[in-house]
Amino acid sequence: MSQPTIESILHEKRSFPPSPEFSAQARIKSMEDYQALYDAAAADPEGFWGDLAEKELEWFQKWDKVLDWNPPTAKWFVGGQLNISHNCLDRHLGTWRKNKAALIWEGEPGDSRTLTYAQLHREVCQMANVIKSFGVQKGDVVGIYMPMIPEAAIAMLACARIGAVHTVVFGGFSAEALRERLKDASAKLVITADGGYRKDAVVPLKPQVDKALDDNAIPSVDNVLVVQRTGDEITMDSGRDHWWHELQKTASADCPAEAMDSEDMLFILHTSGSTGKPKGVVHTTGGYNLYTHVTCQWTFDLQDTDVYWCTADVGWITGHSYIVYGPLSNGATTVMYEGVPRPSNPGCFWDVVEKYGVTIFYTAPTAIRAFMKAGERHPKSRNLSSLRILGTVGEPINPEAWVWYHRVIGGERCPIVDTWWQTETGGFMLTPLPGATATKPGSATRPFPGILADVVDLEGNPVEANQGGYLVIKHPWPSMMRTVYGDFDRFRRSYWENIPPKDGQHFYFAGDGARKDEDGYFWVMGRVDDVISVSGHRLGTMEIESALVSHPAVTEAAVVGKPDELRGESIVAFVSLESEHDPSEELAKALKQHVVEDIGAIARPQEIRFTDDLPKTRSGKIMRRLLRNLAAGEEISGDTSTLQDRSVLDKLRGGA
Ligand code: WT7
Repeated sequence: MSQPTIESILHEKRSFPPSPEFSAQARIKSMEDYQALYDAAAADPEGFWGDLAEKELEWFQKWDKVLDWNPPTAKWFVGGQLNISHNCLDRHLGTWRKNKAALIWEGEPGDSRTLTYAQLHREVCQMANVIKSFGVQKGDVVGIYMPMIPEAAIAMLACARIGAVHTVVFGGFSAEALRERLKDASAKLVITADGGYRKDAVVPLKPQVDKALDDNAIPSVDNVLVVQRTGDEITMDSGRDHWWHELQKTASADCPAEAMDSEDMLFILHTSGSTGKPKGVVHTTGGYNLYTHVTCQWTFDLQDTDVYWCTADVGWITGHSYIVYGPLSNGATTVMYEGVPRPSNPGCFWDVVEKYGVTIFYTAPTAIRAFMKAGERHPKSRNLSSLRILGTVGEPINPEAWVWYHRVIGGERCPIVDTWWQTETGGFMLTPLPGATATKPGSATRPFPGILADVVDLEGNPVEANQGGYLVIKHPWPSMMRTVYGDFDRFRRSYWENIPPKDGQHFYFAGDGARKDEDGYFWVMGRVDDVISVSGHRLGTMEIESALVSHPAVTEAAVVGKPDELRGESIVAFVSLESEHDPSEELAKALKQHVVEDIGAIARPQEIRFTDDLPKTRSGKIMRRLLRNLAAGEEISGDTSTLQDRSVLDKLRGGA
């Protein structure tokens, strides 16, 4: 029986090998090196990960067994004991890195702070002791609701140090979203700040916490620790709320790291499905520490001279794995920036790169498209020559944005690592290794060594090259999620049963469509929920959007299907334009024609709707589900609490 797969229509052929000079200095220098690692890991995963765990991390107690795989339950480094805060801090203190910058922080108003490894260690120990003083014990859950300030990372590391489980809630989420997540995790303590700075304004946080806890809504929470950031007037409940700067004064800086079992829970992080309540993704200690450490080191070719900057928020998995744990475990210098590009300074990111001599810059396609729209003059007027590697994550990057990033930000010399992964995977799954892999714009290239990825049909059979299908992982990896907090059955159903196991082979599938090309490169086509079915052809949204964005007038595009009696679905494209272009009938016609020429008549949008903005989640992903409602003329259904800017929807409704 033939299974519905996804047709692929994008034909991107350009290839960008790393320069010989880059490869010569890199940790992994060639495709032969990559292949040797890949093959070794595939032949003996336990040997491969066991050796790395021994070499790269410090353990209080060595494991008895590398992997215990009882699908879908994986246990890594069974019987081993360690502490990730020890690996991120203490072990660097006996080396020259003791006084190396661990964290460089830049606040939006222009204040800044640098913490060496020794200083960071000291503050983490102090906060850990304060957390303990509230009666929080190993295994208890602590909610963290913070702006992008050093204390956000300090709070995470402090929890990890004493074995408390952190659950970070993005500071842009509402009181209701915060309440739902804290409740789901039964948090005992909340760590927050009075507020933070974003887009030239103060974002109040403590008042949101008050609202979330109103009427004893979450009985498990009995204390709130408040960091002073903005100095704005807030209410402090004398029995419940405590200022960090006051308690810090008398807090001891002596706090030994708790010996944690490798499989002890490290954190819960909620990911919002398009329907249903958010899933509390559970990550554990040993496998997560190792995998984020190794992926961070190889994918960013980390060297001791690097100044590494990931622009994500610590509220997302990207911030957990690649602002805090991965870089610090490696003894790297990690930059944290409170702000976002804003009308008063659209070039603020480039100021940060220039000021600190950033060498590795990691951001998202939505940000790159915004840089394109803001114009080349911003990056061009700063010195970006320190950069040597660029990265992207979050959604498929359209080749147009990739090439712009490469040319304007990377000066055509920086390899781009397009990293495909998920909250659930903990670390990079598909990614180039910058000294080895020739990159292709829009492709996350090949699996990280140790990752057995494939593209299959609904029965788990591999599909042919260049045929779209379901992106799956066929062997457990150290940083895979262990469960949905409090709902193992949901974990099994959501990730392990969409493609049923066969012949003892289990398939991890988390919702993305992809194809593999003739070179074995993976092209992620977006969420399969977003696939459009036109006259029996199942088309991924990403390829049509890429075609639209490759037109000089277009900055950003989102396409969705609209029910169509004749064809099943017809394509509706929401398009935002470069500032010098105005919407017109002619332009709509030209764009349709452009798609036809680029990928064929099958992908011709039936309708083009011009809009200034697209509805996005707070992490920058386009919410096609809402656009589908709009295109079909329906009421918006489902959860909209993760929407970045509600006014966008109103404008779309009114103006479309
Ligand atoms: C989903 C996971 C992983 C950190 C940030 C997002 C999409 C992510 C890529 C990429 C194409 C990508 C996928 C994935 N995605 N990176 N490089 N190319 N798509 O984490 O919120 O858990 O989202 O983001 O659809 O499933 P997340």
